Parts: sequence; structure tokens; C-alpha cells
Amino acid sequence: MNHAVLRAQFPALNQILNDYPLCYLDTAATSQKPQMVIDSISHYYQFDNANVHRAAHQLSARATSQYEQVRHKLSQFINAQRHEEIIFTQGTTHAINTVAYGLTHQLKVGDIILIDSAAHHANIVPWQQLAQRTGAIIKSIPLNGQCRIDLEQYQALIAQKPKVVALNHVSNVLGTVNPVIELIAMAKAVGALTLIDGAQAIAHLPVDVQQLGCDFYVFSGHKMYGPTGIGVLWGDYAALDQLIPLLTGGEMIKQVSFNHTSFNQLPNRLEAGTPAIAEVIGLGSAIDFLNQQDRATCLQHEQQLINYLQQQLQAITGIELYGAHADNIGAVAFNLQGEHHQDIGILLDQQGVAIRCGHHCAMPLIESLQIKGCCRASLGIYSNQQDIDIFINALKDVIELLG
Ligand code: ALA
Repeated sequence: MNHAVLRAQFPALNQILNDYPLCYLDTAATSQKPQMVIDSISHYYQFDNANVHRAAHQLSARATSQYEQVRHKLSQFINAQRHEEIIFTQGTTHAINTVAYGLTHQLKVGDIILIDSAAHHANIVPWQQLAQRTGAIIKSIPLNGQCRIDLEQYQALIAQKPKVVALNHVSNVLGTVNPVIELIAMAKAVGALTLIDGAQAIAHLPVDVQQLGCDFYVFSGHKMYGPTGIGVLWGDYAALDQLIPLLTGGEMIKQVSFNHTSFNQLPNRLEAGTPAIAEVIGLGSAIDFLNQQDRATCLQHEQQLINYLQQQLQAITGIELYGAHADNIGAVAFNLQGEHHQDIGILLDQQGVAIRCGHHCAMPLIESLQIKGCCRASLGIYSNQQDIDIFINALKDVIELLG
């Protein structure tokens, strides 16, 4: 598909801010939504609104059928072995909490949980809580001078036989891509459970959970052109089946009396309460949108853009890039020497350029870079070279203004 036609499907991109065209470079925080996703949510509320799995009437049957179809679509999208392995959550954070809480009975004092040093707080804090509940120990996997996982140190940590290894697929701050297949294989060889945070990968890279070989893979709908409030926990059936449910209540039960409750089978066992039905349907539409694209061409387009963005930034005196590699995905992290990252963001916003500034919910990574925060420009399927040129020109204006 012609890229201009693809981009035109995202209505929010076509607007003026402070007399400037919006230049949206914050897709890593949340992606914009194509019209077909917006329409599918509106259609559900207009015609099919009913609760799922619960009623005898036709509306409920329609809603249930659409809801369950998305589970099948997702299962195909990531090549899960069984559609029951797809658990709908509120997002990546909820998915990781579900796993970390669910493992409480499987860990004991002194067990090791290994965490990626570049992890998002969502892939750190739930594990710390699990460690507090069980007496397990958190160890972080150091990065090397190129901001990549230090494979020698990883090997040494793996030799200590961790019980859990939690990794990024792609860093939300730097855009660096972990060699996950290799890292997972090393962890599995010592019997560790592996969880991959795919929030920043799923919209960009093909994901095949069987090929990856991990136990859990998690992601959010809103970073893959779908709605907020919906995410996915994929897990190997046996691993999911052993999790203690984080949430209990309606729908996740088989039998309830005041003395005893037995739980339902997967996936219902881990989906308590009325789910985010409209959001699931919207996510299904986002998958349809992605399936309509030539994903390999889109990935190539995004890589060319990220390399162009890295080169343009590198050419500006005073700009420092962090962990910039040719194979990065989606994001570039940078600072302007002597200036506060927040000031850069605010001044760019005055020219219609949207980026994110701060610690990016990855304080340990920011600390290891020995900075207080940074700016991040991030790209999506709809980004084009003009976005980058507008951004670079605006950044040069900001530098002149501050100079
Ligand atoms: N995790 C999202 C980000 O990196 C919000 O911006």
C-alpha cells in the first residue's frame, strides 16, 4: 500500500497545533488509531452492546462471538498453540502483575529472579513485590557499554539457576532489541520461567511465541494501533494453568458455595469480572489493520526512518544519543548537552512536535546511563521522513533559542 494512503487512515495525525501541523513522535507511549479501529468500537456500542458469556439473548451471543473471535485472531497473530493461552488483561502492567502474583506459591526464600536492567517499571515492581512475599532475591542483568545485555554476565547469572527471568523484547527508552531467542534458550536450559515484555515489539516485529520458546509473552493493545485498557498475557498452557488467579469473582469460577469455590478452566480462570469488551473488539480490528499491511515492508520502512533519525540527530552538535544502534526499533533517546530534557520537550511542543521526556518509567536504566532523564522520539507504521525533517528543524530552532 502507498504510505500516504496508510497514513491517511489515522485521523488524529491530520491536525494543526499552534499553527503547526502535528508531528507525532510519541508512538512508544501510545500509538494513534486507524479509523477502522475507532469505527469498530463505535459499531459495537451502537449495535451489539451486551455482556459476554452470560445471557440467553442475541445481543450477548453477538458480543460473545466477536469477543472470542479476537482471541482466535490473537492466537494466530503470535502463533500460539491454543487460543485458550490468550488471556485478556488491562495492558502489559496488568499482565505482568498477573504472572508475578500467580507465581507466589512457586517461589521460596533465596530463589533468584533475574530482571533486565533496561526493564520498564512494569517489569520490575511486580517482581519486587513477589520477592517481598516469598523471600526471593532480585538480581539485575547488567548492560555493556553499548547498552545491550552483557552476555558474559548474563551467562554467569544464569549459572546461578534463577527461577524467573524477565526481559524486554525491545527497550521502551532506547529502542534496543534483545536477542530474545538466545536469552530464553539459556534461561530455559537451567529450568527458569521466562517472561518477555513485548509492549514495544509487537507493533513492529513479527512475534512467534512458539519460536521464541518463552513461558509468557505480554503486550498492550494501545501500542499496536488498538485501544487503551486492553492487553494480552500469552502463556504456555501448563505455565498459565499453574498461576494463582490475581483477580477472583464472576466468570472465573466453576462452582461457588460459601465454603468453597472451584475455578474455571483457562482462559476464564484468569479473566475475572466483565471484560473490556469494546476494547477487545477494537484490538481485533487493530490486528485486522496490521494483517492488511505487508509487515516486512513496514518494518523495513520503520528501520530506514529510525536510522535516518539517528543520523540527523548525530549530526547536531551537542546532541548525545543513548544506545543508538542500526538495528534498534521504534525509538531514539537523546539529550542536548547543558539543557534539561523537559525544556526541550516543552519548546518542541510549541512547534507541534510531540515527544516524551523524563525517566520513561525506567529509572534504573536512566541511573545506569548517569543522567537524570532524556528525550525520546519514537516512530510508528504511519511515520514518514517529513516527520523527522520537521522535528530536526524544530530542534535546531530550539537549540538556537536556548543558545
Ligand atoms: N511505557 C510507555 C512509554 O514508554 C508509556 O512511554
